[in-house]
Amino acid sequence: MTTVDLPLLPLGRGVDLGSERGVECPGDLPAASDPDLVARARAAKDALGSRVFVLGHHYQRDEVIEFADVTGDSFKLAREAADRPEAEFIVFCGVHFMAESADILTAPEQKVILPDLAAGCSMADMARLRQVEDAWQALEEAGVAQDVVPVTYMNSSADIKAFCGRNGGAVCTSSNAETALEWAFAQKPDAVGGGKVLFFPDQHLGRNTAVLKMGLSLDDCVVWDPHRPHGGLTVEQLRGARMILWKGHCSVHGRFSAEVVDELRATIPGVQILVHPECTHEVVLKADLVGSTEFIIQTIEAAPAGSSWAIGTELNLVKRLAAAHPDKQITFLDKSVCYCSTMNRIDLPHFVWAMESLVNGTVVNQIEVDAETEKWAKVALDRMLALPGKTHRD
Ligand code: 13P
Ligand code: SF4
Repeated sequence: MTTVDLPLLPLGRGVDLGSERGVECPGDLPAASDPDLVARARAAKDALGSRVFVLGHHYQRDEVIEFADVTGDSFKLAREAADRPEAEFIVFCGVHFMAESADILTAPEQKVILPDLAAGCSMADMARLRQVEDAWQALEEAGVAQDVVPVTYMNSSADIKAFCGRNGGAVCTSSNAETALEWAFAQKPDAVGGGKVLFFPDQHLGRNTAVLKMGLSLDDCVVWDPHRPHGGLTVEQLRGARMILWKGHCSVHGRFSAEVVDELRATIPGVQILVHPECTHEVVLKADLVGSTEFIIQTIEAAPAGSSWAIGTELNLVKRLAAAHPDKQITFLDKSVCYCSTMNRIDLPHFVWAMESLVNGTVVNQIEVDAETEKWAKVALDRMLALPGKTHRD
């Protein structure tokens, strides 16, 4: 049985802060209409052989995923990058913060390439180092900083990860947020009233994990708004909170709504709602299952034929799952939610251009994190990679 109910939306619709970087692609970008693009990509990959390793995030387009040596969520791809010391080039088909993390976790002589430098992440852009330092200063002035462990979601720039490394904190991904929070609270056993976590940039992942997995209440959570004086919080609110959530969100996942969940339950008998933890708390509360992209894939793979699913995550992945599982009814959770436009910037022309440049001896779009940032960001990333095995939320 195949019932795929997916909206037909033009690629590239959506928030695209990556393009704010104003980065042009140097050299000759092949035309998207070039009928030889697939053959050119294949030829370049063959010519580079084991010198290149191609990583593909689950939100990438099919045309790019076809050339990935490994696909995964951001946690798996970080591990894969760290596990490929033999590859001279890591071509990262994903977004900027993922390529930065790969650069930090690979050896200095390895080169990480992002085929389009404008492939950023609007959520990562919502927490800037200066803003985070201001927040930390406010915590110091409120007399609580010594009880706080900063935890940043992988979807953040390298300098934010370095801030966490320098201040006793760690990185987490959607696969291991619960384990990372358990670790973080355990760092402050002597704090009066329990330790606190400053979590950025995604308030939804932070809140969903704290409330649904850690047993904290919504009253334990406050939201720090970097655009308001003192984050919009009083000293008493900071002192009373266990989770200080940064006011950031994903422009894609933040659009799924609780109303549509109700509508789908009323119209599709037995439908199970499966969402990414970047969705709002209201949506996650109404869902049957919540987890990272890797968890979503594993859940659908293990589901029985004939089962019905509505999935709240990026559209490229949902379409691919629907195509790969024609025996299951897979519906996109919302008609108005679009592709992640920055993930979509990595297309076949950019991939071919990056790969052919490497074949010709030119390294383009290399992502290089400076040594000092790298040192501290690696501390935070290594703390995450050393967390015990539980990696999926369910
Ligand atoms: P994962 O950590 O599940 O790969 O998600 C990354 C992401 O960008 C989600 O929006
Ligand atoms: Fe960033 Fe959201 Fe796109 Fe993921 S889906 S890369 S969090 S904007």
